[in-house]
Amino acid sequence: MKIFSGTANLILAKEVAKYLGRKLSDISIKRFPDCEIWVKINENVRGKDVFIIQSTSNPVNEHIMELFIMLDAFKRASARRITAVLPFYSYARQDRKDQPRVAVTAKLMANLLTSAGADRILTMDLHAPQVQGFFDIPVDHLLAEPVITKYFLKKKIKNLAVVATDMGGVKIARTFAQKLGCNLAIVDKRRSGPHEVKAMNLIGDVKDKDIVMPDDMISTGGTMVEAAYFLKEKGAREIYACCTHPILCGGAVEKLNKAPVREVIVTNTIPLSKEQMSDKIKILSIAPLFAEAIKSIHNETSISRLFN
Ligand code: R5P
Repeated sequence: MKIFSGTANLILAKEVAKYLGRKLSDISIKRFPDCEIWVKINENVRGKDVFIIQSTSNPVNEHIMELFIMLDAFKRASARRITAVLPFYSYARQDRKDQPRVAVTAKLMANLLTSAGADRILTMDLHAPQVQGFFDIPVDHLLAEPVITKYFLKKKIKNLAVVATDMGGVKIARTFAQKLGCNLAIVDKRRSGPHEVKAMNLIGDVKDKDIVMPDDMISTGGTMVEAAYFLKEKGAREIYACCTHPILCGGAVEKLNKAPVREVIVTNTIPLSKEQMSDKIKILSIAPLFAEAIKSIHNETSISRLFN
């Protein structure tokens, strides 16, 4: 087995390798003066079981292209099997033709990853789990929920409710509520554009309760912040926002800092820059989950233990 990393999340890749008692294998990734990407694998990978860790986070298209070029290099270097490990899989929100003449980019990503040379995919909390079906190669889909719920169980918060920030988040919120042993409420959210979010109705009870709000991602923060103000109006006490993928663009950190949110719990699928750090943000590591999954894929054992 050999583990390589792209440039998107080197810290996570090193943590995964360390957990497995290894070092990252040697690869050079450079940019030509015109910004073209050049990749060279600096060790023999013929017949090896190769894992490439690359989150497709900002700059999204740079990281995707880098991954494609790495896949091509490994394919041409005769790796036996190549697993593309995408802790964060971007473009997953573009998973259907929801208006005329738009692309289904999540499917295009699946096609391109496969054509570039991926034999399998290992990823986490796809925006919609059915994106797995866009691939005709095996996909292992991890969930950050066990790591995040463990954090809350340790806090022993009394009188808790889990709130889904929109209808799409109900399934994962229900799992959170089951694990935390509390009730579920749902915010009925309407989105009129990428930046405009409005909370319309509340299904369930949040009065005098501390709230855990899970989501797959916080992008501009609009969804979380709107829901937090809305829940406060409805009588909620402390609000904990949490997500797997902290994209945190478009002033999200400033919005979250001002909002009635006590903590923002995120994972390290995407590395945060200095500007994205805030006293409210708590980062939980999903490196052990990815490391265990890589071990299982390599040893051909079940990964279902990782969902508990
Ligand atoms: C939407 O369906 C997703 O699950 C997230 O709620 C959304 O993408 C978050 O985006 P933003 O932070 O920009 O509201």
